[in-house]
Amino acid sequence: MPAAFYLSPEIYDLDINGVLMKHWQCVTHVSAIPEVGDYVVFNYDRESAIIVRDKDGEIRGFANVCRHRGSRICESSGKAEGGMLICPYHAWAYSTDGSLAHARMMPRTLDKSTLGLKPLAVKVVQGLIFLSFADEPLSFDDCEANLNATLGAYDWAGAKIAFQSTISFSANWKLALENQVECYHCGPSHPEFSVVHGQSSGSEKKLAQMMNAKAEALGVDITITDQWAEKARPGYELSFSDRFPMSGENVCTASRDGAPLAPRMGKFAAGYDNGQTVAYVGVMNHFLCYGDYGAAFRYTPKSVNETELAVMWLVRGDAVEGKDYDLDELTWMWKVTAGADKRIVQENQIGVSSRFYTPGPYALPIEQKTARLSDWYLSALSKAISA
Ligand code: FES
Ligand code: FE
Repeated sequence: MPAAFYLSPEIYDLDINGVLMKHWQCVTHVSAIPEVGDYVVFNYDRESAIIVRDKDGEIRGFANVCRHRGSRICESSGKAEGGMLICPYHAWAYSTDGSLAHARMMPRTLDKSTLGLKPLAVKVVQGLIFLSFADEPLSFDDCEANLNATLGAYDWAGAKIAFQSTISFSANWKLALENQVECYHCGPSHPEFSVVHGQSSGSEKKLAQMMNAKAEALGVDITITDQWAEKARPGYELSFSDRFPMSGENVCTASRDGAPLAPRMGKFAAGYDNGQTVAYVGVMNHFLCYGDYGAAFRYTPKSVNETELAVMWLVRGDAVEGKDYDLDELTWMWKVTAGADKRIVQENQIGVSSRFYTPGPYALPIEQKTARLSDWYLSALSKAISA
């Protein structure tokens, strides 16, 4: 795309408020807030949400904005003291169902029932917690079906977070995403990834046949769907999934040498299919499934030239660190690969800032998803402008 789409603060503002804010975001996994009163805070541009486990065990989302004078209530993750979320400014106290429980020194006649926290839409699918800041959220039905068909085979609902980290890219969110959806760069930029993944091997077709035969023998039938970019139904969240083979018969997972890293998950209890499943929700969230671990990725724009990537590693719920898996080995591949992505995307940002930059042709079909992403974005932006 022309440089202005990566550099202009005005377009960035339209991106956030006209294009991105209505989409669902994956906040975390349920294992991050296992107990009643546990909460996490998710910040998105000017908005902030509290996602809390309520007394009945349900997970609820609220705008992190006090109904007194508007202070942010929770700064980061924590536990509701005595079951209350307490505003640090004047100590109004909210229950974990969002209702206002106590308002210090206010008259007894105060109608507290009108002063609860504003609720936000939350969906929990396969253990992942999704949140929307929209007044009328996009339908999550396609995503729910897709995640159940893909992540469900690996039982992400019964998984737990082994590790999570965030990486800051000094680049516009579109450059981060354009890079993330194609594997044209995998060969030159990700040697560690390319050793064990079949995407850039040239013999992907043969490897895919092997993957499918192994999956069938295991009784694993993963349905993939494509409701993404131009194929998304109007009013529905974008949803996409795909399957890719690993690079060889003995390559079980994304590790240094393809050897297993953690206890096998879900339907893969009996063995590996030497494949990988990927699912997308919206444009900013994608989920990679291997037979023994998962990796969830979320991009969050921070400014016109800063984007945060949050990565969450998931293992089977009963796996024990140090006994069943080594954390350094488990996280090695995607730390190395995400670090390389940071470097190439930042160099890309510097390049498109030059007056000599003009957009070049895509390599098709391998950059097809980047082309689709650009087409989808430009059409979403023009709709936002004319709305
Ligand atoms: Fe929260 Fe006053 S702003 S109690
Ligand atoms: Fe990459």
